[in-house]
Amino acid sequence: MSRTVLSLPGDGIGPEVMAQVRRVLDRIGGFQIEEGLVGGASYDAHGTPLTDDTMAAALKADAVLLGAVGGPKWDTLPFEVKPERGLLRLRKDMELFANLRPALVFDALAQASTLKTDLVRGLDLMIVRELTGGVYFGEPRGIEDIGGGERRGVNTQVYTTSEIVRVARVAFDLARKRDSRVCSVEKANVMESGLLWREEVQKLRDAEYTDVALSHMYADNCAMQLVRAPKQFDVIVTDNLFGDLLSDCAAMLTGSLGMLPSASLGAADANGRRKALYEPVHGSAPDIAGQDKANPMACILSASMMLRYSFDMAAEADLVDRACQDVLNAGIRTGDIVEPGMTPVGTAAMGDAVLAAMDRLSGG
Ligand SMILES: NC(=O)c1ccc[n+]([C@@H]2O[C@H](COP(=O)([O-])OP(=O)(O)OC[C@H]3O[C@@H](n4cnc5c(N)ncnc54)[C@H](O)[C@@H]3O)[C@@H](O)[C@H]2O)c1
Repeated sequence: MSRTVLSLPGDGIGPEVMAQVRRVLDRIGGFQIEEGLVGGASYDAHGTPLTDDTMAAALKADAVLLGAVGGPKWDTLPFEVKPERGLLRLRKDMELFANLRPALVFDALAQASTLKTDLVRGLDLMIVRELTGGVYFGEPRGIEDIGGGERRGVNTQVYTTSEIVRVARVAFDLARKRDSRVCSVEKANVMESGLLWREEVQKLRDAEYTDVALSHMYADNCAMQLVRAPKQFDVIVTDNLFGDLLSDCAAMLTGSLGMLPSASLGAADANGRRKALYEPVHGSAPDIAGQDKANPMACILSASMMLRYSFDMAAEADLVDRACQDVLNAGIRTGDIVEPGMTPVGTAAMGDAVLAAMDRLSGG
């Protein structure tokens, strides 16, 4: 099985955290890793945040790993060449329609949540957000003058059967690798697009996923349930807008940006292989860039998602996850998650600790 990975470290802390990911992947072995530029780094070298060559390499790779893009140095560039455009082009040209955002609370960090510890201890839920349709892209859209000093702003929430089915399929497939429960979230009570969503998800489940338990929930109730009793969920599947809000809400349950991975998946090819981009949720953190202060765990956990979802390497992914957990349990912490009495370390030392834990856990 080929395992080609395009690594795009990007800007700010991106290269620092990606360097630790490279060490983890090298330790596991068997990957052909190509490196490219994205964001401000690509703009500085080539005058564009993503070259056609790098885009072609991303389309060819089995998976793409990205650090972060952006920073004050490029804030005043024209919109078309801003660092973020590189990331948007990757998502668009790879047709990544499903965004996976796990909210996982490591025991050792349960106290960092703003919620009561017992509500979040052991939390492990996955939000699957539709990423390329819905109200962010629907037509008609715009702002128009309607006379008499009035203007009108329009956006259109629109979904088709195939857009709903393909993202629901990702959620059901994921659920099968977890606790086999999916909660589909919309507002079918007030939106026709929500009613269609509910009907199509149910139809798919009844036709192909009878082994997965499906429930439906209105988005407003889901927001409440996420902060009331988040552990009731396994996989949540929802549209672009609700997913945007609910995934950020779920992220806050876990306490730290430096711990949050993500994946974006495209359609499966004939071999069942999906185009995929893995990246930490955090940005380029210019305030700490180049100082060996960044927490590399979000990026390492993104690579673990890559092992699990692109390469079917569940045992290796479990090893990486458990190594991260061990390091946290041992009180080894970067600045963003350090507490009194713990051992503060920098980015590279955190990488050292994860590698040592991997060796220990695998008897190496
Ligand atoms: N996907 C992306 O590449 C992405 C996402 C968000 C923001 N950005 C860009 O990043 C730049 C900075 O944005 P921002 O400050 O709003 O968000 P940010 O996520 O970069 O940083 C927010 C805060 O969290 C801290 N932080 C983030 N990641 C951390 C880590 N791994 N370890 C320790 N601390 C960490 C930072 O130091 C900062 O104080 C901007 O140019 C923005 O456009 C990029």
